Amino acid sequence: MARVGFSEWVAAGMAISEGHLLRYGGKHNRVDRFESRLSALTGAKYVLAVDHGTGALVAALAAAGVGPGDEVLVPAYTWMSTPAAPVAVGAVPVLVEIDETLTMDPKDLERKITPYTKAIIPVHMVNTPADMTAIMAIARKHNLLVIEDSCQAVGVTYKGKFLGAIGDAGAFSFNKYKNLNIGEGGAVLTSSEKIYARTRNFHDLGSFVRNHAETFNEPTFIGSNMRITEIEGAMLNVQLTKLMPLMRRLRERRKALEPIFNAGEGFRISPHNDVDSAVTLTLLFDRESDAIAFSNQRGVARLLDNSKHVYTNWEPLLSKRTYHPKFNPWAWANREINYSDDMCPRTLNIISRTCVVNLGPQYPVAAMKVLASKMVSGRWPWQGASKPARPAAEDKRYASTNAQSASTR
Ligand SMILES: Cc1ncc(COP(=O)(O)O)c(C=O)c1O
Repeated sequence: MARVGFSEWVAAGMAISEGHLLRYGGKHNRVDRFESRLSALTGAKYVLAVDHGTGALVAALAAAGVGPGDEVLVPAYTWMSTPAAPVAVGAVPVLVEIDETLTMDPKDLERKITPYTKAIIPVHMVNTPADMTAIMAIARKHNLLVIEDSCQAVGVTYKGKFLGAIGDAGAFSFNKYKNLNIGEGGAVLTSSEKIYARTRNFHDLGSFVRNHAETFNEPTFIGSNMRITEIEGAMLNVQLTKLMPLMRRLRERRKALEPIFNAGEGFRISPHNDVDSAVTLTLLFDRESDAIAFSNQRGVARLLDNSKHVYTNWEPLLSKRTYHPKFNPWAWANREINYSDDMCPRTLNIISRTCVVNLGPQYPVAAMKVLASKMVSGRWPWQGASKPARPAAEDKRYASTNAQSASTR
């Protein structure tokens, strides 16, 4: 989470004092400036700021032409916005297992492709890049769109490229938990003129009153309103200046803590798709009970305990319930698609054994090293006589790591 302080307060205050808060028609064009700066930073030809990351996903899917009858591949470990976005445009999400990198498993992804698959949404969870090389290759082979959910990875790079700017489009979130934080906000990134033109149209009701339509040779269509204000633009410009320093601090701490955690027992640092630029550190335990004990005693979060990030907690999705019975994408899908609690056992197994270490970018590296040493040393309840027996149920629950749900093939 990036901190918001005095500079954002001053910037927002200046925008308010100037009085013209709509992003269009004023003199200062703060939102425009933010978009240009983010585009220059990430290399995405076009950036459009919107009111949240969920909206960014929905707008990108709509702009890319995803709709009724289409299937969209999403990982089983992500925030619920990812599977909800396809539903919002009339398509159906199909769940894909993650691998130990905590991101979409390219092998399972390829297994889940059907003649109806239209798009893939790889999610870069907890600042960790998905295997974009493999995913882009699969997408090109099967002629699928790739919409990156980079909501949790704003500013993170993968093999020298910015996440969100690799696929056909990318979605950023600027909510309070993200690397770039203004409370709520988001952006769509793309290098496709068509997707950009359609995203602009979608985010502003069909461009009826402004001149978006004149700029591009794309017919207008009815959209929604996802515009952001100049106050948000002002704050975003301040936050953007802080983004890459934040990334540097995270990278520095990850590198400093790596040897300490490598020396620990009972766990290893999770594999990573681009370890040289890693800005996060998660620990993969051999056993679920060890991860639970570590989480309880060392104050770190275990991923399975993270509520709506786990598909088993997506109750409305599992029950295929929408706001109106007649607006239900599963009803017009090309085949029956069902969900169940046990459909992605490998994902549950991995996140039940993974804890995320806060790299403490606001604290000195030396202090973080002391904390990390304390985390890996000391006596653990399971080290020695009081070691708890491994619950039999735990092994059984996740035994079938490669099980595929017949209903989603
Ligand atoms: C992976 C992921 N996707 C999408 C979103 C949606 O972002 P927002 O909360 O800005 O709508 C989030 C936000 O938490 C997220 O973590």
